[in-house]
Amino acid sequence: MTAAAAERVLRANWREGRRRDGTPYAFTCPAQRRYKHQWYWDSCFHAVAWSRLDPQRGREELRTLLRAGRADGFVPHTAFWGASPRWRRAPLYATDRVWGDIATASIQTPLLAVAWERVALACDDGGAFAAEGLPALRAHARWLLRERDPDDDGLLTVLLPDESGLDDSPKYDAAYGRLAHWKPAGYARLVQRCRRHRWDARAIAATSDEHVEDVLVNVAHALSLRALARLSGEDQWNEHARRTETALLERCWDERHGLFFDLAGRAERPLKTATWSSLAPLALGDAIPRDVRERLAEQLADPRRFGARFGIPSVSMSEPSFRPGFDAFRTWRGAAWTCSTWLLVGGLRALGAADEADRIAQGALDAVERSGLREYYHPRSGAGHGERGFGMSALVLDLPAGLVPGTVQAA
Ligand code: GLC
Repeated sequence: MTAAAAERVLRANWREGRRRDGTPYAFTCPAQRRYKHQWYWDSCFHAVAWSRLDPQRGREELRTLLRAGRADGFVPHTAFWGASPRWRRAPLYATDRVWGDIATASIQTPLLAVAWERVALACDDGGAFAAEGLPALRAHARWLLRERDPDDDGLLTVLLPDESGLDDSPKYDAAYGRLAHWKPAGYARLVQRCRRHRWDARAIAATSDEHVEDVLVNVAHALSLRALARLSGEDQWNEHARRTETALLERCWDERHGLFFDLAGRAERPLKTATWSSLAPLALGDAIPRDVRERLAEQLADPRRFGARFGIPSVSMSEPSFRPGFDAFRTWRGAAWTCSTWLLVGGLRALGAADEADRIAQGALDAVERSGLREYYHPRSGAGHGERGFGMSALVLDLPAGLVPGTVQAA
Protein backbone atom coordinates (compact mmCIF):
# COMPACT_ATOMS: atom_id res chain seq x y z
CA MET A 1 0.00 0.00 0.00
CA THR A 2 2.83 2.35 0.88
CA ALA A 3 4.58 1.61 -2.42
CA ALA A 4 1.39 2.26 -4.37
CA ALA A 5 0.88 5.57 -2.55
CA ALA A 6 4.48 6.60 -3.29
CA GLU A 7 4.04 5.82 -6.97
CA ARG A 8 0.79 7.79 -7.08
CA VAL A 9 2.45 10.87 -5.58
CA LEU A 10 5.45 10.73 -7.90
CA ARG A 11 3.20 10.40 -10.95
CA ALA A 12 0.82 13.14 -9.80
CA ASN A 13 3.73 15.54 -9.14
CA TRP A 14 5.44 14.94 -12.50
CA ARG A 15 5.76 18.11 -14.55
CA GLU A 16 6.95 18.48 -18.11
CA GLY A 17 6.94 21.19 -20.72
CA ARG A 18 9.07 24.00 -22.08
CA ARG A 19 10.28 27.14 -20.40
CA ARG A 20 9.45 30.42 -22.15
CA ASP A 21 12.86 30.37 -23.87
CA GLY A 22 12.08 26.91 -25.29
CA THR A 23 14.25 24.85 -22.89
CA PRO A 24 12.50 21.54 -22.19
CA TYR A 25 11.97 20.31 -18.63
CA ALA A 26 10.68 17.18 -16.91
CA PHE A 27 10.84 16.79 -13.14
CA THR A 28 8.83 15.97 -10.03
CA CYS A 29 7.63 18.93 -8.01
CA PRO A 30 7.99 18.30 -4.25
CA ALA A 31 4.34 19.15 -3.49
CA GLN A 32 1.61 20.44 -5.77
CA ARG A 33 0.35 23.23 -3.57
CA ARG A 34 3.37 24.82 -1.96
CA TYR A 35 6.46 23.56 -3.80
CA LYS A 36 5.80 23.91 -7.52
CA HIS A 37 9.37 24.35 -8.73
CA GLN A 38 12.33 22.01 -9.03
CA TRP A 39 14.46 21.71 -5.90
CA TYR A 40 18.00 20.30 -6.16
CA TRP A 41 18.09 17.74 -3.37
CA ASP A 42 14.42 16.82 -3.70
CA SER A 43 15.14 15.98 -7.35
CA CYS A 44 18.04 13.75 -6.30
CA PHE A 45 15.73 11.89 -3.89
CA HIS A 46 12.92 11.73 -6.45
CA ALA A 47 15.34 10.27 -8.99
CA VAL A 48 16.39 7.56 -6.52
CA ALA A 49 12.71 6.72 -5.95
CA TRP A 50 12.03 6.76 -9.70
CA SER A 51 14.98 4.37 -10.22
CA ARG A 52 12.83 1.76 -8.46
CA LEU A 53 9.78 2.39 -10.64
CA ASP A 54 10.67 3.97 -13.92
CA PRO A 55 14.38 4.81 -14.35
CA GLN A 56 13.68 6.84 -17.51
CA ARG A 57 11.86 9.39 -15.36
CA GLY A 58 14.82 9.52 -12.96
CA ARG A 59 17.05 10.13 -15.94
CA GLU A 60 14.90 13.00 -17.21
CA GLU A 61 14.66 14.53 -13.75
CA LEU A 62 18.45 14.63 -13.33
CA ARG A 63 19.03 15.87 -16.89
CA THR A 64 16.58 18.67 -16.17
CA LEU A 65 18.42 19.58 -12.97
CA LEU A 66 21.67 19.91 -14.91
CA ARG A 67 19.90 22.00 -17.55
CA ALA A 68 18.93 24.40 -14.77
CA GLY A 69 22.62 24.94 -14.08
CA ARG A 70 25.36 26.85 -15.88
CA ALA A 71 28.27 25.81 -18.06
CA ASP A 72 30.71 26.66 -15.23
CA GLY A 73 29.26 23.83 -13.11
CA PHE A 74 26.91 25.79 -10.85
CA VAL A 75 23.62 23.95 -10.22
CA PRO A 76 20.91 25.95 -8.39
CA HIS A 77 18.97 25.21 -5.23
CA THR A 78 15.65 25.91 -6.99
CA ALA A 79 14.79 26.21 -10.69
CA PHE A 80 11.57 27.92 -11.79
CA TRP A 81 10.59 26.13 -14.97
CA GLY A 82 6.93 26.55 -15.77
CA ALA A 83 6.08 29.30 -13.32
CA SER A 84 8.09 32.08 -11.72
CA PRO A 85 7.34 32.73 -8.06
CA ARG A 86 4.73 35.44 -7.64
CA TRP A 87 5.44 38.62 -5.75
CA ARG A 88 4.31 37.15 -2.44
CA ARG A 89 6.73 34.24 -2.56
CA ALA A 90 9.52 35.83 -4.61
CA PRO A 91 11.30 37.18 -1.48
CA LEU A 92 11.66 33.59 -0.23
CA TYR A 93 14.00 32.70 -3.07
CA ALA A 94 17.71 33.42 -3.05
CA THR A 95 17.86 34.80 -6.56
CA ASP A 96 20.37 37.18 -8.11
CA ARG A 97 17.81 39.84 -8.90
CA VAL A 98 14.61 40.66 -7.10
CA TRP A 99 12.50 39.64 -10.07
CA GLY A 100 12.71 37.63 -13.28
CA ASP A 101 15.47 35.05 -12.66
CA ILE A 102 15.04 31.48 -13.92
CA ALA A 103 16.65 29.92 -10.83
CA THR A 104 18.19 30.78 -7.48
CA ALA A 105 21.85 31.74 -7.12
CA SER A 106 22.16 29.52 -4.04
CA ILE A 107 23.06 25.83 -3.79
CA GLN A 108 21.59 22.84 -1.96
CA THR A 109 23.16 19.73 -0.38
CA PRO A 110 25.12 18.30 -3.33
CA LEU A 111 23.86 14.76 -3.87
CA LEU A 112 23.68 14.88 -7.67
CA ALA A 113 26.45 12.36 -8.46
CA VAL A 114 25.00 9.95 -5.86
CA ALA A 115 21.59 10.08 -7.54
CA TRP A 116 23.15 9.93 -11.00
CA GLU A 117 24.95 6.71 -10.08
CA ARG A 118 21.77 5.13 -8.72
CA VAL A 119 19.79 5.98 -11.85
CA ALA A 120 22.67 4.89 -14.12
CA LEU A 121 22.69 1.51 -12.37
CA ALA A 122 18.96 1.10 -12.90
CA CYS A 123 19.00 2.18 -16.56
CA ASP A 124 20.82 -0.92 -17.76
CA ASP A 125 21.97 0.89 -20.91
CA GLY A 126 25.56 -0.31 -21.12
CA GLY A 127 26.83 2.71 -19.18
CA ALA A 128 25.44 5.32 -21.61
CA PHE A 129 23.70 7.46 -18.97
CA ALA A 130 26.74 7.27 -16.68
CA ALA A 131 29.02 8.44 -19.50
CA GLU A 132 26.63 11.17 -20.59
CA GLY A 133 26.72 12.81 -17.17
CA LEU A 134 30.47 12.86 -16.65
CA PRO A 135 31.43 16.25 -18.15
CA ALA A 136 28.71 18.07 -16.20
CA LEU A 137 29.26 16.13 -12.97
CA ARG A 138 32.99 16.91 -13.12
CA ALA A 139 32.23 20.59 -13.76
CA HIS A 140 29.78 20.64 -10.83
CA ALA A 141 32.32 19.06 -8.45
CA ARG A 142 34.99 21.52 -9.59
CA TRP A 143 32.63 24.47 -9.14
CA LEU A 144 31.90 23.45 -5.54
CA LEU A 145 35.60 22.91 -4.79
CA ARG A 146 36.57 26.23 -6.38
CA GLU A 147 33.72 28.48 -5.23
CA ARG A 148 32.52 27.06 -1.93
CA ASP A 149 35.66 26.23 0.02
CA PRO A 150 36.96 29.75 0.54
CA ASP A 151 39.62 28.78 3.12
CA ASP A 152 40.64 25.67 1.15
CA ASP A 153 40.40 23.35 4.16
CA GLY A 154 38.42 20.60 2.40
CA LEU A 155 35.05 21.68 3.86
CA LEU A 156 32.39 23.41 1.76
CA THR A 157 30.69 26.49 3.19
CA VAL A 158 27.01 27.42 3.09
CA LEU A 159 26.06 31.09 2.95
CA LEU A 160 22.37 30.60 3.76
CA PRO A 161 20.94 28.05 6.19
CA ASP A 162 18.60 26.56 3.60
CA GLU A 163 21.57 25.70 1.37
CA SER A 164 21.81 22.51 3.46
CA GLY A 165 18.11 21.73 2.93
CA LEU A 166 17.64 22.02 6.73
CA ASP A 167 16.15 25.51 6.54
CA ASP A 168 15.32 26.43 10.15
CA SER A 169 17.36 23.83 12.02
CA PRO A 170 18.17 25.10 15.52
CA LYS A 171 21.81 24.28 14.81
CA TYR A 172 21.91 27.57 12.89
CA ASP A 173 20.40 29.70 15.64
CA ALA A 174 23.76 30.55 17.19
CA ALA A 175 25.31 31.37 13.82
CA TYR A 176 22.54 33.32 12.11
CA GLY A 177 20.15 34.37 14.88
CA ARG A 178 17.07 36.01 13.41
CA LEU A 179 18.74 36.18 10.02
CA ALA A 180 18.10 32.44 9.66
CA HIS A 181 14.37 32.87 9.24
CA TRP A 182 12.31 34.54 6.57
CA LYS A 183 9.90 35.81 9.15
CA PRO A 184 10.51 38.56 10.19
CA ALA A 185 12.59 39.29 7.09
CA GLY A 186 15.95 38.04 8.39
CA TYR A 187 16.48 35.69 5.50
CA ALA A 188 15.77 38.48 3.00
CA ARG A 189 18.57 40.53 4.59
CA LEU A 190 20.98 37.63 4.19
CA VAL A 191 19.99 37.31 0.54
CA GLN A 192 20.57 41.05 0.08
CA ARG A 193 24.08 40.68 1.45
CA CYS A 194 24.82 37.80 -0.94
CA ARG A 195 23.56 39.91 -3.83
CA ARG A 196 25.78 42.82 -2.79
CA HIS A 197 28.78 40.45 -2.84
CA ARG A 198 27.63 38.88 -6.13
CA TRP A 199 27.36 35.53 -4.37
CA ASP A 200 31.12 35.42 -3.92
CA ALA A 201 31.66 33.07 -0.95
CA ARG A 202 35.22 34.31 -0.48
CA ALA A 203 34.10 37.91 -0.06
CA ILE A 204 31.22 36.95 2.24
CA ALA A 205 33.30 34.61 4.40
CA ALA A 206 36.01 37.26 4.76
CA THR A 207 33.69 40.02 5.91
CA SER A 208 30.92 38.40 7.97
CA ASP A 209 30.31 35.55 10.40
CA GLU A 210 27.04 34.25 8.99
CA HIS A 211 28.39 31.28 7.05
CA VAL A 212 28.79 27.66 8.06
CA GLU A 213 30.95 24.66 7.23
CA ASP A 214 28.04 22.27 7.40
CA VAL A 215 28.42 18.59 8.29
CA LEU A 216 25.52 17.29 6.20
CA VAL A 217 26.56 19.28 3.14
CA ASN A 218 30.10 17.95 3.41
CA VAL A 219 28.95 14.37 3.89
CA ALA A 220 26.89 14.72 0.69
CA HIS A 221 29.87 16.31 -1.06
CA ALA A 222 32.17 13.41 -0.08
CA LEU A 223 29.51 10.86 -1.11
CA SER A 224 29.14 12.56 -4.49
CA LEU A 225 32.91 12.72 -5.02
CA ARG A 226 33.14 8.99 -4.29
CA ALA A 227 30.27 8.32 -6.71
CA LEU A 228 32.00 10.45 -9.35
CA ALA A 229 35.23 8.48 -8.84
CA ARG A 230 33.33 5.24 -9.47
CA LEU A 231 31.43 6.63 -12.45
CA SER A 232 34.55 8.07 -14.12
CA GLY A 233 37.24 5.66 -12.91
CA GLU A 234 39.28 8.79 -12.02
CA ASP A 235 41.09 8.56 -8.70
CA GLN A 236 41.45 12.32 -8.24
CA TRP A 237 37.85 12.45 -6.97
CA ASN A 238 38.65 9.89 -4.27
CA GLU A 239 41.49 12.13 -3.15
CA HIS A 240 39.16 15.11 -2.87
CA ALA A 241 36.67 12.93 -0.97
CA ARG A 242 39.40 11.78 1.43
CA ARG A 243 40.32 15.39 2.10
CA THR A 244 36.74 16.22 3.06
CA GLU A 245 36.32 13.06 5.16
CA THR A 246 39.59 13.80 7.00
CA ALA A 247 38.57 17.41 7.60
CA LEU A 248 35.20 16.26 8.99
CA LEU A 249 36.99 13.93 11.38
CA GLU A 250 39.72 16.32 12.41
CA ARG A 251 37.68 19.49 12.63
CA CYS A 252 34.02 18.60 13.22
CA TRP A 253 34.13 15.44 15.35
CA ASP A 254 33.51 16.13 19.04
CA GLU A 255 34.82 13.21 21.05
CA ARG A 256 33.12 14.26 24.27
CA HIS A 257 29.62 14.55 22.78
CA GLY A 258 30.08 11.74 20.28
CA LEU A 259 28.74 13.96 17.48
CA PHE A 260 29.93 15.97 14.48
CA PHE A 261 29.32 19.71 14.71
CA ASP A 262 29.23 22.42 12.02
CA LEU A 263 31.79 25.24 12.16
CA ALA A 264 30.49 28.80 11.98
CA GLY A 265 31.94 32.13 10.96
CA ARG A 266 35.50 33.39 10.66
CA ALA A 267 36.45 31.86 14.02
CA GLU A 268 35.04 28.47 12.91
CA ARG A 269 33.11 28.10 16.12
CA PRO A 270 31.48 24.67 16.60
CA LEU A 271 27.67 24.81 16.64
CA LYS A 272 26.97 22.38 19.44
CA THR A 273 23.34 21.49 18.81
CA ALA A 274 22.65 17.77 18.38
CA THR A 275 20.76 17.32 15.10
CA TRP A 276 20.54 14.43 12.69
CA SER A 277 23.19 16.16 10.59
CA SER A 278 25.60 15.44 13.48
CA LEU A 279 25.06 11.73 12.70
CA ALA A 280 25.27 12.04 8.91
CA PRO A 281 28.94 10.88 8.64
CA LEU A 282 27.60 7.40 9.40
CA ALA A 283 26.62 7.38 5.71
CA LEU A 284 30.31 7.56 4.76
CA GLY A 285 30.85 3.94 5.80
CA ASP A 286 34.42 2.83 6.39
CA ALA A 287 35.83 6.21 5.37
CA ILE A 288 35.07 7.00 9.05
CA PRO A 289 36.73 4.88 11.79
CA ARG A 290 34.54 2.16 13.23
CA ASP A 291 34.65 3.40 16.83
CA VAL A 292 33.39 6.83 15.72
CA ARG A 293 30.52 5.29 13.75
CA GLU A 294 29.63 3.12 16.74
CA ARG A 295 29.27 6.23 18.87
CA LEU A 296 26.88 7.66 16.24
CA ALA A 297 24.91 4.41 16.12
CA GLU A 298 24.50 4.52 19.92
CA GLN A 299 22.85 7.93 19.63
CA LEU A 300 20.46 6.63 16.98
CA ALA A 301 19.38 3.81 19.26
CA ASP A 302 19.09 5.95 22.41
CA PRO A 303 15.40 6.59 23.24
CA ARG A 304 16.34 9.87 24.97
CA ARG A 305 18.13 11.21 21.88
CA PHE A 306 17.38 9.95 18.37
CA GLY A 307 15.76 6.57 19.05
CA ALA A 308 12.13 7.41 18.25
CA ARG A 309 9.33 5.13 17.07
CA PHE A 310 8.62 6.87 13.72
CA GLY A 311 11.82 7.81 11.90
CA ILE A 312 14.81 9.82 13.06
CA PRO A 313 14.01 13.09 14.86
CA SER A 314 15.74 15.95 13.05
CA VAL A 315 16.86 17.31 16.44
CA SER A 316 17.89 15.20 19.43
CA MET A 317 14.93 14.74 21.77
CA SER A 318 17.18 15.85 24.64
CA GLU A 319 17.83 19.29 23.10
CA PRO A 320 15.85 22.18 24.66
CA SER A 321 15.10 23.35 21.09
CA PHE A 322 13.40 20.04 20.14
CA ARG A 323 9.95 20.92 18.68
CA PRO A 324 8.54 17.95 16.77
CA GLY A 325 5.14 19.41 15.87
CA PHE A 326 3.97 21.67 13.06
CA ASP A 327 5.16 25.25 12.77
CA ALA A 328 4.19 27.15 9.62
CA PHE A 329 7.39 29.19 9.71
CA ARG A 330 9.99 26.79 11.10
CA THR A 331 11.02 23.39 9.73
CA TRP A 332 13.66 20.85 10.77
CA ARG A 333 13.29 21.60 14.50
CA GLY A 334 12.48 18.07 15.60
CA ALA A 335 10.15 16.36 13.13
CA ALA A 336 11.32 13.25 11.23
CA TRP A 337 11.86 13.39 7.45
CA THR A 338 12.13 10.31 5.26
CA CYS A 339 15.41 11.41 3.66
CA SER A 340 17.36 11.14 6.92
CA THR A 341 16.27 7.54 7.38
CA TRP A 342 17.23 6.82 3.78
CA LEU A 343 20.68 8.36 4.25
CA LEU A 344 21.50 6.69 7.56
CA VAL A 345 20.16 3.14 7.57
CA GLY A 346 22.72 1.91 5.02
CA GLY A 347 25.49 3.21 7.27
CA LEU A 348 24.06 1.18 10.13
CA ARG A 349 24.01 -1.94 7.95
CA ALA A 350 27.64 -1.33 6.97
CA LEU A 351 28.41 -1.40 10.71
CA GLY A 352 26.65 -4.75 11.08
CA ALA A 353 23.71 -3.18 12.98
CA ALA A 354 21.08 -4.74 10.70
CA ASP A 355 18.40 -5.07 13.39
CA GLU A 356 18.66 -1.42 14.32
CA ALA A 357 18.63 -0.43 10.63
CA ASP A 358 15.47 -2.51 10.12
CA ARG A 359 13.82 -0.95 13.17
CA ILE A 360 14.44 2.60 11.94
CA ALA A 361 13.45 1.85 8.35
CA GLN A 362 10.27 0.17 9.57
CA GLY A 363 9.47 3.21 11.72
CA ALA A 364 9.71 5.50 8.68
CA LEU A 365 7.57 3.09 6.64
CA ASP A 366 4.99 2.93 9.45
CA ALA A 367 4.77 6.73 9.53
CA VAL A 368 3.97 6.77 5.79
CA GLU A 369 1.54 3.88 6.21
CA ARG A 370 -0.24 5.73 8.99
CA SER A 371 -0.26 9.29 7.63
CA GLY A 372 0.47 9.12 3.89
CA LEU A 373 3.32 10.88 2.09
CA ARG A 374 3.65 14.00 4.19
CA GLU A 375 6.49 16.50 4.30
CA TYR A 376 7.50 15.35 7.80
CA TYR A 377 6.24 13.33 10.75
CA HIS A 378 5.99 13.57 14.50
CA PRO A 379 8.69 11.09 15.55
CA ARG A 380 6.69 9.88 18.56
CA SER A 381 3.15 9.64 17.19
CA GLY A 382 3.75 9.21 13.44
CA ALA A 383 1.29 12.06 12.74
CA GLY A 384 1.95 13.69 9.38
CA HIS A 385 2.68 17.42 9.10
CA GLY A 386 3.38 20.00 6.43
CA GLU A 387 2.58 19.33 2.79
CA ARG A 388 0.58 16.34 1.58
CA GLY A 389 1.64 14.30 -1.44
CA PHE A 390 5.29 15.10 -0.73
CA GLY A 391 7.68 13.61 -3.29
CA MET A 392 10.73 13.16 -1.06
CA SER A 393 8.79 10.73 1.12
CA ALA A 394 8.62 8.41 -1.91
CA LEU A 395 12.10 7.39 -0.76
CA VAL A 396 10.19 4.70 1.15
CA LEU A 397 10.40 2.85 -2.18
CA ASP A 398 14.13 2.52 -1.54
CA LEU A 399 13.73 1.33 2.06
CA PRO A 400 14.56 -0.78 3.97
CA ALA A 401 17.94 -0.83 2.15
CA GLY A 402 18.53 2.95 1.93
CA LEU A 403 21.79 4.41 0.69
CA VAL A 404 24.44 1.72 0.87
CA PRO A 405 27.91 3.24 1.45
CA GLY A 406 30.25 2.56 -1.47
CA THR A 407 27.63 1.49 -4.02
CA VAL A 408 29.47 0.03 -6.98
CA GLN A 409 28.69 1.28 -10.47
CA ALA A 410 27.84 -1.49 -12.91
CA ALA A 411 30.19 -1.82 -15.86
C1 GLC B 1 11.56 22.84 2.43
C2 GLC B 1 12.63 21.92 2.99
C3 GLC B 1 13.75 21.68 1.98
C4 GLC B 1 13.15 21.21 0.67
C5 GLC B 1 12.06 22.16 0.18
C6 GLC B 1 11.30 21.63 -1.02
O1 GLC B 1 12.06 24.12 2.25
O2 GLC B 1 13.16 22.45 4.17
O3 GLC B 1 14.66 20.72 2.46
O4 GLC B 1 14.16 21.09 -0.29
O5 GLC B 1 11.11 22.38 1.19
O6 GLC B 1 10.70 20.42 -0.72
